[in-house]
Amino acid sequence: MGSTIKCGMNIFKWFRSQPKVTNKASTQKFLPPIVVKSDTSVKLKPSQITHPSLTPLGYWAKPDQGPRLLVITGAGLSAESGLSTFRDNDGLWKKYNIDEVCRINSWERNQKQVHEFYDALRGIANQSKPNGAHHALASLNGPDVVVVTQNVDGLLEKAGAENVLNLHGRLDRLQCMACDSQWNVPWLYQASALPQKCPFCSVPHKVKPGVVFFGEPAPLYRGFHNLIFGLRPQDAVVVIGTAGSVLPLRLLLANCQANKWLLNKDPSPDLPANMFDNVVYGNATVLVPELVEWWREYSKTA
Ligand code: APR
Repeated sequence: MGSTIKCGMNIFKWFRSQPKVTNKASTQKFLPPIVVKSDTSVKLKPSQITHPSLTPLGYWAKPDQGPRLLVITGAGLSAESGLSTFRDNDGLWKKYNIDEVCRINSWERNQKQVHEFYDALRGIANQSKPNGAHHALASLNGPDVVVVTQNVDGLLEKAGAENVLNLHGRLDRLQCMACDSQWNVPWLYQASALPQKCPFCSVPHKVKPGVVFFGEPAPLYRGFHNLIFGLRPQDAVVVIGTAGSVLPLRLLLANCQANKWLLNKDPSPDLPANMFDNVVYGNATVLVPELVEWWREYSKTA
């Protein structure tokens, strides 16, 4: 089984010095690639956002392509940019009641308070800057790398990352619950300042923040699951800065044959070390640039 290393020992150099990772492909049948069509069914309207198409799969769908990297990130990726995580001792859910600001029925019950909460988060995100971990991931832009994030702060895109799937939406978006349109708003937008009406269907009081609340569907989850199920033994999946309390990663990664990495500040009961090939605990700004170096070398030789 893989190695659990406390940060400080450089696992990436250790890993590079090890005999080549046995390419499990020899023992494992390739998983048939699962192509997820981008959502072309949505009738596009001016400045309307469709759910980001899974275009990277165009490359991922061809079984003879080289190794691919799936990165799955959470709030820990942005912690060193000054943004609160959710479940750490100083996390958001220690200061705010999740039931009042992050559930679909709480939004229906008290739209102004919910908009005020996300207006505040949008303003804080607007002042934050991508850190070294965001920039390191952005430096991997290419058809072989997809970055999935649970974060809604837009910092990966601010760092220049392209193939980003925002599983839980983005703070600089609003969404209409009547016609399901989504649209961008400025980072300083204050949705709580005036009654919201959908610019597409004009229905009033049905506009919510463009982030996924508990209790409502997450449209990108199916495509995300297919990305994991399409991973092959020569690919890699890296989980960074998440407690794993919301995405069922233990289940999703159970049969994944790719090289599995966990880079996290602290252990999490929802992400036991023995489900990964390599586990490194430490700060994302230290670990992610190292991981990126490892991937550059590994992906050339795999
Ligand atoms: N570097 C790396 N990891 C870090 C750092 C850091 N500097 N700081 C914190 N972490 C790790 C913590 O150890 C923890 O495991 O980040 C993780 C944060 O976990 P959560 O606060 O639960 O955040 P996350 O996993 O992203 O939450 C998932 O829950 O409430 C919902 O929608 C919300 O997207 C969010 C989802």
